[in-house]
Amino acid sequence: MNPTVTPAPGLLLPTADLPPSFKWGVATSSYQIEGAVAEDGRTPSIWDTFCRVPGAVVGGDNGDVACDHYHRMPQDVALIKSLGVDTYRFSVAWPRVQPGGKGPANEAGLAFYDRLTDELLAQGIDPWVTLYHWDLPQELEEAGGWPNRDTAYRFADYSMLVFDRLSDRVDNWTTLNEPWCSAWLGYFVGVHAPGRKNFGDAMAAVHHLLLGHGLATQRMRAAAPREMKFGITLNMGTADPATDTQADRDAARRADGMGTRIYLDPLRKGQYPADMVEDLAARGTAFPVQDGDLEIISTPFEVLGVNFYFGQDFSGTDEQGNSTDADGLPVVRAILPPGPRTAMDWPITADRFTRLLVRLSRDYPGLPMVITENGAAFDDTADAEGNVADEDRTAYLAAHIAAVADAREQGADVRGYFAWSLMDNFEWAEGYAKRFGIVHVDYNTQVRTPKQSALWFRDTISRVRGD
Ligand code: FCB
Repeated sequence: MNPTVTPAPGLLLPTADLPPSFKWGVATSSYQIEGAVAEDGRTPSIWDTFCRVPGAVVGGDNGDVACDHYHRMPQDVALIKSLGVDTYRFSVAWPRVQPGGKGPANEAGLAFYDRLTDELLAQGIDPWVTLYHWDLPQELEEAGGWPNRDTAYRFADYSMLVFDRLSDRVDNWTTLNEPWCSAWLGYFVGVHAPGRKNFGDAMAAVHHLLLGHGLATQRMRAAAPREMKFGITLNMGTADPATDTQADRDAARRADGMGTRIYLDPLRKGQYPADMVEDLAARGTAFPVQDGDLEIISTPFEVLGVNFYFGQDFSGTDEQGNSTDADGLPVVRAILPPGPRTAMDWPITADRFTRLLVRLSRDYPGLPMVITENGAAFDDTADAEGNVADEDRTAYLAAHIAAVADAREQGADVRGYFAWSLMDNFEWAEGYAKRFGIVHVDYNTQVRTPKQSALWFRDTISRVRGD
């Protein structure tokens, strides 16, 4: 059972402080919605493979059909239009555009994103392209995956195939979505594709993801026919010490280092944080930096995409009070803050969102931010027509949009907000059991029904714009 959060009346329209120019959007990603995994020349990605591993995904679910968006794209764009948003963030499936991860473009794959772009523009919706939202071609994983340096160059080549096709119409380009998830969850914890569990591999993946971002950004910018906005999306939380002990403060520093600073320091300051380099050395590994890499990684970009779901506290001791684990490594134990949780068991911590945004603008100044994802899964109950009275999700969105407005008031340069997600979809290792959509999807019929939160979002946008 989820504790239900009832929106306080003042929170329902929390937007008086956001300007009419603020950009509003909804977000999705390719593997989570498209389906059609074997059509028009698409080859398997690491997620197609991972979904076949027994026990890897709840319910044995996979993205074979998902929301069938590949076949329902025009209706889905009409749905997006009905929400009154300015922009739509979608990702391009690498194995659709460049099957196997190498060589020439697959025309049929590119043509889908071409049609999607045209459809969006015809409806007055600005396309926001993410080039990599986790669907690495399986062949590239077999050649070593992200721990292999060559993957960074392959990514830049693939990015140019998409860029050459869409840059006459698309202005917003995000290279990577959440490299922390790709590296940490995919190569160290093993709960995401490709399901490997090796710390050194994960740190090599971090470096090569960042290198791929830098290479792709440089090449796209050099080829850009006009001024464009390039960027990267990171998922970030806040890492607070559970108590004021030195051990807890160290644990929070380490968590922040692993989640935020090992990405933003090289991207914005051209170096990995010294304390993290030391921690890696203590674990017998290092970022595989070659001459010139950090210049490439720190190539300037225009927008930082921020994905926020929740903040955590950290303790430097385990439940028994030990400060090192079985391998002699310092304990970094996450503790969920008290209070209501979502269906993911994630705490609801809107005030920490404000704190994160203000901190980012202080520590990494001069970088406009856009919230590229924020939202919540709840155990929705739909009536016979698919209507969902999701007060809990509405309250979550209201509180977090208010948190963005607060951060702006405190000086954070946040220019837009995308709700995650347009519609219920394949939630990775959680399968279809977790619903993040502001639009309900009946997976038997593929009928989409806007939830109460979608209607609230639409009304909020129109109120801020002063329509
Ligand atoms: C983020 C992912 C997105 C979605 C949300 C809930 O980590 O970028 O695809 O699964 O979490």
